Amino acid sequence: MNRPKTTVKIGSLILRNPVMTGSGTFGFGSVMALVRDLSRLGAVVVKSTSREPRLGNDTPRIVETPGGILNAIGLQNAGVENFITEKAPFLRQFDVPIVVNLVGYSVEDYVFLADRLTQAGAADALEINISCPNVKHGCDFAVDPKLTFELISEVRKVTPLTVITKLSPNVANVVPIAAAAADAGTNAVSLINTLLGTAIDAKKRRFKLANRTGGLSGPAVKPIALRMVWQVHQALPTLPIIGMGGIMNAIDAIEFMLAGATAVAVGTATFVNPLASIQIVDGIEKWLADYVVSDVNELIGAVE
Ligand SMILES: Cc1cc2nc3c(=O)[nH]c(=O)nc-3n(C[C@H](O)[C@H](O)[C@H](O)COP(=O)(O)O)c2cc1C
Repeated sequence: MNRPKTTVKIGSLILRNPVMTGSGTFGFGSVMALVRDLSRLGAVVVKSTSREPRLGNDTPRIVETPGGILNAIGLQNAGVENFITEKAPFLRQFDVPIVVNLVGYSVEDYVFLADRLTQAGAADALEINISCPNVKHGCDFAVDPKLTFELISEVRKVTPLTVITKLSPNVANVVPIAAAAADAGTNAVSLINTLLGTAIDAKKRRFKLANRTGGLSGPAVKPIALRMVWQVHQALPTLPIIGMGGIMNAIDAIEFMLAGATAVAVGTATFVNPLASIQIVDGIEKWLADYVVSDVNELIGAVE
């Protein structure tokens, strides 16, 4: 058999393979570029970027839990101008699409960011983070279909770039939110962001995180993420999905594609093994060859 085809399409973005990085688990690529070749990835998704620099929450901001981690980083970043002048030129050295994850306090913030990044040519696609559980009002847009529709419609007006809406698992039913984003013109949705949780130190009688609550990620959340990807794909079969939540290896990634994802993102696994996403790229290719699948797109939603 010839080499299996691994190219997938999300909006106008062509990915050489379906493996992306999970926002916030890869920084802005400069450290990761020391240990691996970024151009092997389908796309690089950078940490949430806001209009003004943000310092994030107080420490401790990360705690290990069984099968995962809780984080309350609080969207620390150096702001969009710093991204445009410093981070983007670095990433542009690599032959890999750059997806910039945006975060704001208001519709106006998101519109400003989308417009600024588009005009500056600093992104190939925009991931609209409406689902951060670790900051005040971070999930407001993601729990209300009307607000999601309004936000994505306004962003859509100012950019021709591929728009990906990042959804929250902290809702009773994710489908109406995905549908609202699709109606507003998003090219894809990504899910899941982290699940709101907490951890307590019994001996000290204190919360383990300074922020008290944080977002749960890693293998512990995988069954929930997989179920949500499947539900959205069933309801909206033509809407591309970037699936994430506990993907540790190539088999996990393939399971997400079978559930309905067109691409996947690798997050917490990178903290355990900085080479995880590259190994998942290789592992998917090997799996396709082993099971004589000629095109990775055949897997999308193929679960029976
Ligand atoms: C330390 C940490 C920081 C994160 N920061 C962001 C962020 O800035 N923006 C965002 O949209 N998601 C952020 N996420 C969520 C991840 O991108 C991903 O949606 C989630 O962790 C589930 O995938 P995983 O289980 O593979 O990590 C963060 C996750 C972690 C663990």
